[in-house]
Amino acid sequence: MSLEKTFIDYFVQRGHIPTTGSSLIPRPGDPILFTAAGMHPLTPFLEGEPHPLGRRLVGVQRCLRTTDLDEVGDPTHLTVFEMLGSWSLGDYGSEQSLRWGYEFLHDVLGVDPERMHVTVFGGDDRVEADLESLRTWQDLGLPIELTTEDNWWSNGPTGPCGPDSEIFLWTGDGSPEGTPTTDDRWIEVWNHVMVRFRQQEDGSLEPLPQHNIDTGLGLERLSMLLEGKRSVYETDLFEPWMRLLPELWKLDEESERIVIDHLRSSIVIIGDGVRPSNTGRGYVLRRLIRRVLTLLWRFDQSRTLVDLPVELVEHTLRHFHQDEGVTLVQQVLLDEEVRFTDLLQRGRRILGSDRFRKTLDQHDFEYLHQTHGLPRELVQSLIAQESGGSSAPLSLT
Ligand code: SER
Repeated sequence: MSLEKTFIDYFVQRGHIPTTGSSLIPRPGDPILFTAAGMHPLTPFLEGEPHPLGRRLVGVQRCLRTTDLDEVGDPTHLTVFEMLGSWSLGDYGSEQSLRWGYEFLHDVLGVDPERMHVTVFGGDDRVEADLESLRTWQDLGLPIELTTEDNWWSNGPTGPCGPDSEIFLWTGDGSPEGTPTTDDRWIEVWNHVMVRFRQQEDGSLEPLPQHNIDTGLGLERLSMLLEGKRSVYETDLFEPWMRLLPELWKLDEESERIVIDHLRSSIVIIGDGVRPSNTGRGYVLRRLIRRVLTLLWRFDQSRTLVDLPVELVEHTLRHFHQDEGVTLVQQVLLDEEVRFTDLLQRGRRILGSDRFRKTLDQHDFEYLHQTHGLPRELVQSLIAQESGGSSAPLSLT
């Protein structure tokens, strides 16, 4: 049985109703670009609006985090990932949530408690220490670290927030050492947030009408730990990618991870109805696709997304339960490749003219952007490439 199904079943047996999970596009009126946390679509219900399915929910939510973009390429960060989540909307409290968390990891998935460490909110000048969670973990006999900032969760400058308690698993060889804040071989897998406040514009905390629990367990990361792999890319979730892509395009390990992550994310974003553009969501998509092309062309200009195996597009759309046609997704990727190729050719031609054979000033950058559609970063990359030889990278544009 898949990990998603095992998780859902476990919480259904404890009175939770499965949500269908929503797309990456937030509901109308929400100012954020993409759903970035499992709780995001539930914001009004955490703030007190009754949820039509009740007070106990469970689900899998796809999320996109551009805040982690620079870290993609390491073993664990992804732009699009899936969050397994359980929620108590004004129902049970942290003790129950943490006990189920422990039981699921230990009894259902067989994780050795010797490999677990937890963190708990230690209190600050606004909110007192989370004693209920502290006592629960003490009772379960797990090692505990108290922190303040690392155990406070908010979804942005305003909105629902509260103290959290995080479960970490040991990934090092040999016996565990140190604590989650002193040894990064402790990897966070499950965050249980006690959503009890709403942060206001002025930074003050307003108590919510109900005490909620919002938990999030990253599917790819958990799979990596359970399968004993050294990166999320080596898990079963990425099987066709790691089988097909390295054969097609030879890249160094970091670039390979970035290309896989960005292509997979681009397919999911297109599958949720976004098209490349110069603003908002479309711009995020455009940047992801162009970064892939930049990496692919770094050593071989003849590479093209025409060669992207159809199996990878199909697999991704199927995994994320998306109805968008495979051909349409391929076409969107190819159109963007053509547009980017044209832009680069135009840029090289224009920058090669006498007028720009000098150090460019602010006025030149504005002119190139406004008249020729060449953004500053692209111009700078082309200049760097020109002076550094053909293998110099084009920066993300
Ligand atoms: N909202 C919390 C997080 O994103 C738990 O779901 O980590």
